Amino acid sequence: MPPENQQKQSYFHNWISVLGIIFSVIWFVIILFLWILDFTAKEKNPYLGVVIYFFLPMLLTFSLVVIPLGAWRERKKRLRGIKVRRFPIIDFNNPHHQQLAYTIWGIVTLFFLFTLVGVYQGYHFTESNEFCGKLCHEVMKPEFVAYSQSPHARVKCVECHIGPGVNWFVRSKLSGTYQVFSVLAKKYPRPIETPVKNLRPAQETCEECHWPRQFYGAVERNHQYYMPDEKNSPWQTRLLIRVGGGVPPYGKEEGIHWHMNIKDKVYYIASDDKRQVIPWIKTVSPDGKERIFVDKTSKFTAANPPDKEMRLMDCMDCHNRPSHVFKSPSVAIDEAMAYGAIDQSLPYIKREAVKALFADYSSQPEAKIKIQQNLENFYQKNYPQEWSEKKENINKAVQSIIQIYGTNFFPEMKVSWKEYPNNIGHWIFPGCFRCHDENHKTEDGTTLSRECNTCHTIIEQGAPDSLEKNAEGLSFRHPEEDESWKEMSCSECHEGK
Ligand code: HEC
Ligand code: HEC
Ligand code: HEC
Ligand code: HEC
Ligand code: HEC
Ligand code: HEC
Repeated sequence: MPPENQQKQSYFHNWISVLGIIFSVIWFVIILFLWILDFTAKEKNPYLGVVIYFFLPMLLTFSLVVIPLGAWRERKKRLRGIKVRRFPIIDFNNPHHQQLAYTIWGIVTLFFLFTLVGVYQGYHFTESNEFCGKLCHEVMKPEFVAYSQSPHARVKCVECHIGPGVNWFVRSKLSGTYQVFSVLAKKYPRPIETPVKNLRPAQETCEECHWPRQFYGAVERNHQYYMPDEKNSPWQTRLLIRVGGGVPPYGKEEGIHWHMNIKDKVYYIASDDKRQVIPWIKTVSPDGKERIFVDKTSKFTAANPPDKEMRLMDCMDCHNRPSHVFKSPSVAIDEAMAYGAIDQSLPYIKREAVKALFADYSSQPEAKIKIQQNLENFYQKNYPQEWSEKKENINKAVQSIIQIYGTNFFPEMKVSWKEYPNNIGHWIFPGCFRCHDENHKTEDGTTLSRECNTCHTIIEQGAPDSLEKNAEGLSFRHPEEDESWKEMSCSECHEGK
């Protein structure tokens, strides 16, 4: 039997339990500190959730479990009558003890402060774009690279993907936690699926910076194209796009930004996962009146919509690629030619460049080598004169094409424009024509018109030497003498290559 006074002592008087208590306090303080930090920060960061809600609680639980475990071991020892080691007695009257106690106290405090500073730094790192874009290097590389070239390059990922507020804060933590695990387990899909299911409503992200009253009138877009012929014949279309919008105190809501929920609300149900086929639409006016448009070529009816999620239309249903845009070969090459990065006088450069981008490669380094080989072979073989006279321009063009490939094509993640439809416009993807196609009708016969002047006015079009101009608007002329565009959707022929 151990001495009397030891019998009376709590079983928690043992080193294991004491260490458990010390570490529990440390983990708890760090969790609290991080939580307050993250909660009060302006910008939210999803991945910290892994630390706050998973790793640290795991360590905390472990430390907590150790406390009774130590006590249990202690009890067994005492029952067996093993002599219990006592804690050292600290006597503050003893100068030696005093010094030792202060030194230990100082070291512990310093250690704690440094830990908190480290935690704070780590926290800021997880908030940065470097963390989102580079730490998950392979997974997010496509988005990160494309984003860096976009109008939103200075807007942080988290400002569109998370936004402020408590509810989404916790939700994003949880999904962020899941995402980190799927990356670690290499379970993520390639390409990452789009649309993003739990994206926050645009009112709380986009509208923090762009608000409906900011829009009015029209914006101008000038599109420069090059045909796939030997001369790369140029063609131009200048459009005034009726963005419209609404200034509620003064006037009516009109134009394209009419859909921004400023007056009527537009709901829709897509029948596919990428939201590219929309057979069923409902509008609700402020006085509660509903109208349902159904695609008359589909099997659905007003009362029998597809069995899928109903979405309230917001910014993302048109601007679904505001930041990480993956350009199609023809769009990217037209742009590079218009800016002079690719010499327009090289024969067939438009056609060949598009072909080079469109081919199948297994990785970016492979693409780099093959794009160069194929284009050089083409000019060497078919245009030996250009090859010798314009070698420098050919080389510059090749470098530009490789650069375009590097920022828009990511074979490692199976990412290119094809996987990520852009819903603005209707040229390469169905976009606006998902609804505005003359087939969507209400019961009383109202049709969503595809009439070419509903959304924009063409003010210039044609080849440079025969450019038509009219500020009042022109009727569309297709560069190929072919009238099929009147019946068919542009995207049925124009696939971006
Ligand atoms: C201007 C707003 C904005 C910014 C900034 C932004 N995104 Fe996005 N992102 C979106 C929208 C909108 C979607 C959803 C597209 C959809 O649902 O159709 C999206 C989708 C994604 C997807 C799903 C796959 C895809 O491409 O559709 C990933 C991954 C992604 N974003 C990563 C990032 C990363 C990493 C950054 C920062 C480097 C970033 N985003 C910055 C708006 C933004
Ligand atoms: C943190 C602020 C911020 C947020 C959030 C934000 N944007 Fe922007 N947006 C900008 C800035 C800055 C520009 C560049 C302004 C310019 O070029 O005139 C811009 C430009 C744009 C443009 C014009 C691009 C062009 O080609 O000229 C569109 C469209 C746009 N944003 C849509 C969106 C959508 C949709 C969202 C939500 C998914 C969003 N923005 C979220 C700040 C923001
Ligand atoms: C019905 C589709 C649609 C919806 C919904 C929509 N937009 Fe747009 N938006 C357009 C089109 C089309 C343009 C002009 C052409 C372009 O950018 O290619 C445009 C232009 C813009 C521009 C650039 C304007 C400029 O002056 O250059 C911004 C910024 C923008 N939208 C933000 C938003 C925001 C924020 C929302 C949600 C509140 C929103 N849009 C909702 C279709 C839409
Ligand atoms: C989900 C279906 C849907 C999509 C996608 C869609 N719209 Fe609409 N749009 C509607 C509905 C519904 C109306 C209301 C028609 C009515 O009231 O008769 C409308 C009305 C309009 C109007 C007329 C607004 C007014 O002044 O009364 C314009 C302009 C317009 N859309 C442009 C666009 C553009 C541009 C795009 C593509 C960027 C687009 N829409 C995409 C459903 C859609
Ligand atoms: C529902 C609205 C709507 C209707 C109807 C519509 N357009 Fe457009 N169109 C757009 C929008 C939005 C864009 C993209 C604007 C931009 O960014 O340049 C666009 C872009 C274009 C472009 C430039 C294509 C590009 O991306 O390079 C052409 C050309 C064009 N439209 C022709 C037509 C013709 C021809 C018709 C009639 C058959 C038509 N549009 C009907 C909304 C519409
Ligand atoms: C029946 C197929 C078909 C349809 C439908 C069609 N196009 Fe085309 N389009 C062509 C062909 C073929 C060319 C010739 C150049 C080529 O092969 O890209 C062309 C060329 C163009 C060009 C010149 C630039 C370039 O990249 O070739 C523009 C701009 C264009 N079309 C716009 C449109 C628009 C806008 C619509 C819808 C309103 C449309 N097209 C519908 C077949 C079509």
